[in-house]
Amino acid sequence: MKKLIVANWKMNPQSLLEAKKLFLSIKNWIKKNSALLKKTEIIICPPFVYLEPLSKLLKPKTYNLKPKLGAQDLFWAKMGAFTGEISPMMLKNLGVEYVIVGHSERRHIFKETDEMIAKKLEAAIKNKLKPILCIGETEKERKSGKTFKILKNQLNSAMQNLKPTTYNLKPIIIAYEPVWAIGTGNPCKPEDAKEVLTFLRKTTKQLNNLTTQQLILYGGSVNSQNAKDYIEVGFDGLLVGGASLNPKEFIKIIKNSL
Ligand code: PGA
Repeated sequence: MKKLIVANWKMNPQSLLEAKKLFLSIKNWIKKNSALLKKTEIIICPPFVYLEPLSKLLKPKTYNLKPKLGAQDLFWAKMGAFTGEISPMMLKNLGVEYVIVGHSERRHIFKETDEMIAKKLEAAIKNKLKPILCIGETEKERKSGKTFKILKNQLNSAMQNLKPTTYNLKPIIIAYEPVWAIGTGNPCKPEDAKEVLTFLRKTTKQLNNLTTQQLILYGGSVNSQNAKDYIEVGFDGLLVGGASLNPKEFIKIIKNSL
């Protein structure tokens, strides 16, 4: 099974020049280290406006191993009067393979509801984009012992439009991102994350009702020091925010996760 290391650049960097520089440093490192990366997929999720110019840097296809492109969000409708939104097909047409759905910043800052997230997840699956579905509890929810309940509810509601008999749910990647750990420098303790992982493995199996297993990532204040801990406790990869903007640090995270 492949390991996934995902970079979520969020609303950074501020110029295309910087975005290209960051992207190229990772792409060039991957090219030089392809032998190490046979079982690892590196996915870069830049802001929408950089997807097209960065996709051009991946052409021509002179070698197999390269970063894959992911979007940070998508809209569920095919086309039409949705000012400011980006359709699944627009992403597909640029060669985007992955898309983050339901990130906690979208849930909390932009008030995305479970229903909206379910529609986005369905749109991604229908259009053969691999969704990275983010779920996670707030600090208050963790302190009151509601973590598992919240995660199960988030999973159930995100999947409400996707019946396993109609859709292949295997491409859905789950990212466990405790809200209190995102961008705070306060990562979840690996042993606590492991407990959640065990719960999620069990729960996704029940949802999925297939023999295959979902890939489950950890995200929230990942850095080069702690990356390995999450892989060791059994996560299939990492979703990295802040630390993915520093190419040296991001490369160290990849190396330490191999
Ligand atoms: P962080 O962000 O690594 O900066 O905590 C992770 C994320 O939001 O995906």
